[in-house]
Order: sequence, then C-alpha cells, then structure tokens
Amino acid sequence: MQIHLNYHLKWIEVMSAKNNKIANLKLPNGSNIEFPIHSGTIGPDVIDVKKLYSESDHFTYDPGFTSTGSCKSKITYIDGEKGVLLHRGYKIEDLAENCDFLEVAYLLLNSDLPNPEQKKVFDNKITTHTMIHEQLSMFFRGFRRDAHAMAVMCGVVGALSAFYHDSTDITDPSQRLVASHRLVAKIPTIAAMAYKFSIGQPFIYPRNDLSYSENFLNMMFSVPAEKYEIDPILSKAMDKILILHADHEQNASTSTVRLAGSSGANPFACIAAGIASLWGPAHGGANEAVIHMLNEIQKNGNVYEFIKKAKDPNDPFRLMGFGHRVYKNYDPRATVMKKTADAVLGAVGKEDEPMFILARELEKIALEDDYFVTKKLYPNVDFYSGIILQAMGFPSSLFTVLFAVARTVGWVAQWNEMIEDSEQRIGRPRQLYIGEKQRAFTPLNKRN
Ligand code: ACO
Repeated sequence: MQIHLNYHLKWIEVMSAKNNKIANLKLPNGSNIEFPIHSGTIGPDVIDVKKLYSESDHFTYDPGFTSTGSCKSKITYIDGEKGVLLHRGYKIEDLAENCDFLEVAYLLLNSDLPNPEQKKVFDNKITTHTMIHEQLSMFFRGFRRDAHAMAVMCGVVGALSAFYHDSTDITDPSQRLVASHRLVAKIPTIAAMAYKFSIGQPFIYPRNDLSYSENFLNMMFSVPAEKYEIDPILSKAMDKILILHADHEQNASTSTVRLAGSSGANPFACIAAGIASLWGPAHGGANEAVIHMLNEIQKNGNVYEFIKKAKDPNDPFRLMGFGHRVYKNYDPRATVMKKTADAVLGAVGKEDEPMFILARELEKIALEDDYFVTKKLYPNVDFYSGIILQAMGFPSSLFTVLFAVARTVGWVAQWNEMIEDSEQRIGRPRQLYIGEKQRAFTPLNKRN
C-alpha cells in the first residue's frame, strides 16, 4: 500500500485486520504509528487515520476519495464487485418491485419500513406539504425561459430557506423533521414548475388525492383546459425510477450535501448544493448525455465507430451510461431500469423505438468487447433511464431534474444522519501544496 507523499511514507504492513485490528505505519524517521481498524456490519474494514496528522505531521493523499471513508452510515450499502445495493438492509430490487416511492422514502428517513398506520401518517404528512409559498412562484418569473431547469432548481431550492424560517434551526430535531418533509414534498412541485415555466404553460397546483408519482406527472403534463388521464403503467414506472435514484451512499452530490451541512448551513441551502453537484455530466447529467450520444450514433449510423472512439485513450469520448466508480459489475438499478423500459415503451406503443433498439445493440456490443470486459465497465442506472423518461414525455433537459427529485430524500436522510452523529465536525480536507514557497513581494511598478 503506497501513499503518494513526496518524501515516501512507507506502509510497512497493514497487519491482518481480522486478527488484531491494528494497522502499523512506519515513517521515514523510523517512528511507528498504530491505527485502529474498524469493521462495519458488512463491507471492507476501515483504517482509522484520524490521529495521523497530530501524531506524525503527515496527511493522507487521496484525490477523488477512492480509498477514503468520510463517515459512518446506516442508510445504504453497496457491494460494487457483486453489484449489490441495499437500503437499510433491503435489496433495491425488492424495494423497486414491492414498494411505492414514499414507502422507500420513509425507510431512508427512518430505520425501518413503515407499518400501514405509519405509512398512512407519513403519506399524509408529505401530501399536505406539497404546495409552495405563493410568493415563490414569482421567483420563477425572474429566470429566462430558456434557462436550464437545473439552474432554476439550484436557485429556487436555495431560496426555500428565505421562506421557511421556522425549519432552519438545525439544532432542533422537530425543525429538522419539518424541513425534511418540506423538501421531499415540495421538490416535485418545484421541478414541475420549472418545466411549466420553460414551456410557457401555467403552473399546475399539487393534488392531495393523488399518489406522489401521480401528482408529479399531473403537475408536469396536465393543462387547465382539459382532463389529464394518468396511465397507471407510467405512474408505476415513475415510482420505480424515483426509488432507483433515491439514495446511493456517499456519491459526489451526497458528499456535497454532507460537507455543506457540516458547517451548520440550513437544510435548504445544503440540498441546493447537492443539486449543483448532481448537475455535472459525470454524475446526474449522464442520462441526458446518453440520449445525446444515442442521437449522435443514430445520425452517424455506425455504432462501432463510437465504440472505437470510447476505447481510444487519446479521445476524451466515453460511452455515456457505462462505467461506475463503485460498481465493477452490472449496476442492479440498471437491471430494473431495463425491465421498466420494456413496460413503458410497451405502454406508450414504442416497443420498436429505434433508440431503444440501438441502446440494446450498443449494450450487447460493449458487454462482449474486451476493453469494456477487462475494465469492468457495465451499463449504469443512467443507460436506460433517459429512454424511459423520453418515452414518458420528459424532455432530456429535465432528466437530471428528475434525478434531483428522487435523490432529495437520500440527501435529506444523509444530512440528518450527519447532524445526529456525535463524531460530526466541520468537513475540512487538507492538501499537498505544490505552489511557490514564501517569496519577497515586488511592488507593481517594479515588476517586468
Ligand atoms: N467509456 C469508455 N471508457 C471508460 C468509461 C466509459 N464510459 N468509463 C471509464 N472508462 C475507462 C477510463 O478511460 C479508464 O481507462 P484507463 O484505465 O485506461 O485510464 C478506466 O475505464 C477507469 O475509469 P475511471 O474514469 O478511472 O473511473 P472513475 O471511477 O473515475 O469514473 C465514471 C467513473 C465517471 C462514472 C466513468 O465510468 C464515466 O465517465 N462514465 C460515463 C459517464 C456516466 O455514465 N456517468 C454516470 C455514473 S452513474 C451516476 O452518477 C448515477
């Protein structure tokens, strides 16, 4: 095991974790430091390096945090090698198959699945918080109509803290609970309003007689002038999409929420930070990028050319929807997503949608290609989600917004867990400084 510090820290050995739970680090000056090794309920052990700096004047160096655990958590477990994803111990496949979104939301926010009474109370809580302060609707009108919906989401979700002062005291558990409910309840309303504003249609108010997914579809696609029928296959698919994206351990946006929250920032500001992080194409923007890529391939007509580009180390092109930092196996969410794609495309009469056929062909070619096999690059959750969302009528610019709607409950659950963690401190990583050493200042008129 090597640490990339200039002056060669040398790990002598990580003594067998299972035997005595001690890792031993020998430094160049001959001193020895012992670190405790902790075990979770499942998954790899962790070496606790908290005292490294105070005892040795060294930091660890781990850009991208590929070997760094930032917290303890009871919410989500991923085994990337085996392709396993558990929420509070339950397999994602079982949750997606048997639960509605609010059931999974309850599970993430609490430690167990709700019983029927708890579910009724929770559903009611969320349903009765779906409207947003009327003045917030003015906020949308301040944006250009062609603004990306994620830009609008960052702004409006951050602005919630200016409207809900009675739920920003993070030291008060009851305020945290209300903020959590508000965020989960209002995020679909805000997302639908962002969409309606972009296409110049009137905002549609939430309806308390509908389920979470039905209400979202209604706010997105109905217009006041006519009755909107919600296809149960589509609302069921919406539920699955939301469940599959609800949480995913310490990914970039969740870590952003935790880091923002570690300073004591209010929950609405923290979730806005998460939305900003999710926007990037390497994270939540990937399903939008998949659709752009499939469109390009369709125009070009040659799948193999794109596969070749993806494999070329001198070409920055990557096969979007393939590969994952953690999964080195088929993403279990992608399996459910592919099945859902079949159901949705069937329901909307698009079984022979050329883009779906192309996606399946691309997947088959990549899964048999040595490059993708040896690098363990499998389809991730985003590979099929864009196709489903497009078939349901969502424009591609809204895909990441959908992801944000689903992930809000995960962010909120992780944020709450962080606040309640007695070990929690402000997040403050350090660095390996490679800039100038201290030097003499030259006044402006003396510089060449
Ligand atoms: N196409 C072609 N090659 C790839 C791809 C891909 N999609 N993904 C990774 N690789 C290659 C890399 O070039 C690298 O090759 P090298 O070892 O020869 O340098 C190797 O596989 C490892 O890739 P890394 O970038 O080191 O893996 P990392 O864990 O940093 O990246 C990521 C993961 C960002 C998801 C990456 O696979 C990717 O860019 N995929 C496409 C974007 C995407 O689908 N993102 C969605 C992620 S899921 C989510 O956020 C919900």
